[in-house]
This record gives sequence, structure tokens and C-alpha cells, in this order.
Amino acid sequence: MKVDVILGLQWGDEGKGKIVDVLTPKYDAISRFQGGPNAGHTLEINDFKQVLHTIPSGIFHENKINLIGNGVVLDPMVFKKEIESIKKHNIDLTKNLYISKKAHLILPTHKLLDAASEAAKGETKIGSTLKGIGPTYKDKIGRDGLRVGDLVENFEEKYKTRTQAHKEMLEKFFNFDYKQMLEDCEKEWFEGIEALKAFKFVDSEHMVNELINDEKSVLAEGAQGTLLDIDFGSYPFVTSSNTICAGACTGLGIAPQKIGSVFGIFKAYCTRVGMGPFPTELFDETGQKLRDSGNEYGSTTGRPRRCGWLDLVALKYSIMINGVTELFMMKGDVLDDFDTIKVCVGYEIDGEVVDKFPFELNDDVKPVYVELPGWKTDLTKLTSEDEFPEELNNYINFIEDETGLPITIASVGPNRAQTILLERK
Ligand code: GDP
Ligand code: IMO
Ligand code: MG
Repeated sequence: MKVDVILGLQWGDEGKGKIVDVLTPKYDAISRFQGGPNAGHTLEINDFKQVLHTIPSGIFHENKINLIGNGVVLDPMVFKKEIESIKKHNIDLTKNLYISKKAHLILPTHKLLDAASEAAKGETKIGSTLKGIGPTYKDKIGRDGLRVGDLVENFEEKYKTRTQAHKEMLEKFFNFDYKQMLEDCEKEWFEGIEALKAFKFVDSEHMVNELINDEKSVLAEGAQGTLLDIDFGSYPFVTSSNTICAGACTGLGIAPQKIGSVFGIFKAYCTRVGMGPFPTELFDETGQKLRDSGNEYGSTTGRPRRCGWLDLVALKYSIMINGVTELFMMKGDVLDDFDTIKVCVGYEIDGEVVDKFPFELNDDVKPVYVELPGWKTDLTKLTSEDEFPEELNNYINFIEDETGLPITIASVGPNRAQTILLERK
């Protein structure tokens, strides 16, 4: 069978974790293909809430393979904490969790380099999650990285050589006082390494292709979002991996023709955490209202998320880059109490309206809006599309017409149960 991919179409935090958990019963295996603990994927199941950073969001279903692919960067310290919090729910992780030997390790010095680099940038900082993502991918591309498969032999020696180079960079290039910070976290990091060794390290590209050949179904779980992609996002305010559909091919070792459905997930409005352009951002009480009703605070860092209206120029760009086949609309309930809702359908740049995502999103880009009536209805209790207010149907129809794609899921609350499958009769 082909591999289906689910990925974010905005600046991350679209609700990927929730939807992967909802879709897992249909699949044999769930696999993360890029990113690392910069991701925070929230699952709400009955009365408990879990944020996952490294482990795929299928982990709460029995007998499903959960694979951390080669494209992921893994911090053993974060990983250990995560497995400990999941174990509390009586989940036997050693049975179903597999880790690619080719996944790169985030070293403590990568995190210090992330902090040093951000501090050196000052006002032009990226607003990184400080999880060591950029420096780890830099080492990967620079052919200096350490991988999970390296843990098997002479690891201490490899670790010393690598961190020595990092220490010199911290001292000589960044003039960064790292010694105490490194001492504080190195012991915990090595405890994480020991915890990691209890898991199955696999040649994940063989594993995934065998699953495909055995007619098993695989769902690839993206992290971040298309507008944070290293190539196509709002560079340089992006993450350091390919968050797009092509990233599933390189991050798992699957051929492009093995990709099946591409599920594009978006919020009914828009958010961003960290620095960088955001044409539809709202700085007024409407933005604050979105933040309050959507509880828009980062799942990884707790930072308030910047909020604004849905941006169809950006959404259509993301759809194009990823070859999206179906859309999932999240957090419609956050708009329950708005008289009118704005949607950006074009950008005005130097007096001209364009509908193509430009090279640079600077302050000259002004959103052009259409205004649609709000539904003024509590969506969180709804269980079927038959109960949808007319204004919500109009909102969905409008997005479907603009994008030319069906919206097949509407999420109306954070809980697993608050998910409505649409047939759009
Ligand atoms: P991810 O990174 O894409 O997995 O998304 P996050 O977990 O970082 O952020 C999404 C947030 O919205 C989480 O707190 C979810 O529990 C919550 N959420 C997901 N879907 C819905 C929804 O339909 N309505 C509301 N109100 N919250 C949602
Ligand atoms: P999920 O998977 C939202 C943002 C950071 C920063 C930029 C670079 O939960 O959707 P990095 O630490 O990757 O070097 O930070 O990217 N960022 C995210 N924003 N959701 C995420 O992941 C993010 N991962 C990184 O805020 O602006
Ligand atoms: Mg998140």
C-alpha cells in the first residue's frame, strides 16, 4: 500500500497530533519523518492530555508500529522524559516503538550552540525553540553528525571529538560561557542515552518499504508546517528541515510514487510562534480574543502564539508545494463568538493585488480580505455535519471553492471525540 502523509499547511501547531491520534486506528504504522523536540503535538484523550515531542502520535493505540524515521533529530534527554510520562498510562513502549539508526542525535552542545547563535543575532533572532535543531541539522549537512546507530561502538570517543569542536566554537566564535550549563545537562543526557538503548534501532528505510510491500498501511506524521520549511517557508524565519511532503520521502526512505493521500491540516484562522513575517497578524483585541479562545500558547515553549485571520494566499501555496489531496480544518470552534470572520484572499504589494505567495513577505505586503458572517453557535457539542449552522457551511464552502479541495474533517474541540468527518452532501 502507499504511504499517506499528514502535514501542517501554516506555521505549525495546526493540530497534527490530535488528528494523527484520531486516524491511527485506520493504519498499521505511524512514522515521524523530520523535525525533533521543537515539535509539540498535543493529544487529548478522554480526561488526559499528553504533549509529544519526538514519539509519533499513534502511540496511544495498541499494536500499532510507531517509527521515528531517519529524518528526525532526537534528543535523548527529552526522549527519556517523554517515555516516562507515557509509561504512566501503562503503555509498553519497548514493544511498538522503533527508532531509525540513521536519525541524528541532538547533543547538549547543539542546544548551547542554538542559544549562543540566537543571542548573537540579537534583534534578528529566529525565535528558535532552543532545542538544538539548527545546529544538529547543520552538523548533519556538514557531515559531522552523530547518529543513533553510532551508539553501538566507541560512542564516548566520537562524542568527545564532536563536542570538543563545539566547545571551541562556543568559546572562540561566540564567546559564550557554557561550562556550567554543559555540566548541568550532560549527566542527564547520558542517562537519556541509556534509556534510548532499551529500544529497537532499525534500518527504517527497509522497514517502511517492507511494510509497503506487505500491503500494510503507513501514515507519515509531519512536524512544524509548510511555512516553516527550510526551502519554501518564510526564510530565514524557518526551521532547519523539509517539513513538506517531499520530506516524507527523504525522511523515511520512500520513493515519490509510494506517496498516497496527502492530508493538509490548517486552523480556521492562523497562528505563528517565534519571529518572522505574518501578513494577517492581528495586534488588537481581536487577536487577543483568538489567543484566549484558542488557548494559543506554545505546546513546547509556552510562548504566546501570534494570531490572525486565515490566509488563503499562503494556504494555496502550501497546497501546491505539497500536492495536498484533502484538507482538514481545525479549531473552527475558536471562531464561535465572532459576528464576522475575515479571510485573506490576496496581497496588495505596491498598489497591485497578487494571489501568489511572493519571494519576501515584508511590511509592504498588505492582506486583502473578504468578510464572511460568523455562526455564533457553540460547535464543541456538535457530532455531525447535519447540525452545522449555515454560516459554518458557507465558510467551509468558501475555502473549498477557493482551494479546489474537499475539507473532509472538521475539528471542533481539542478532544479526540470532537472530530467530525464530512461528506459534504
Ligand atoms: P500540533 O503541533 O500541530 O500537533 O498542534 P499543537 O498540539 O501544538 O497545538 C494545537 C492545540 O490546539 C493543542 O492544544 C490542541 O489540544 C488544540 N486543538 C486541536 N484541535 C482543536 C480544535 O478543533 N479546537 C480547539 N479548541 N482546540 C484544538
Ligand atoms: P509543531 O510540530 C510551531 C518555530 C519556532 C521558530 C522556528 C525555528 O508543534 O507544529 P527551531 O527550534 O525549529 O529552530 O525554531 O520554528 N517552530 C515551531 N512553531 N510549531 C512547531 O512544531 C515548531 N517548531 C519550530 O518557534 O520560529
Ligand atoms: Mg505544536
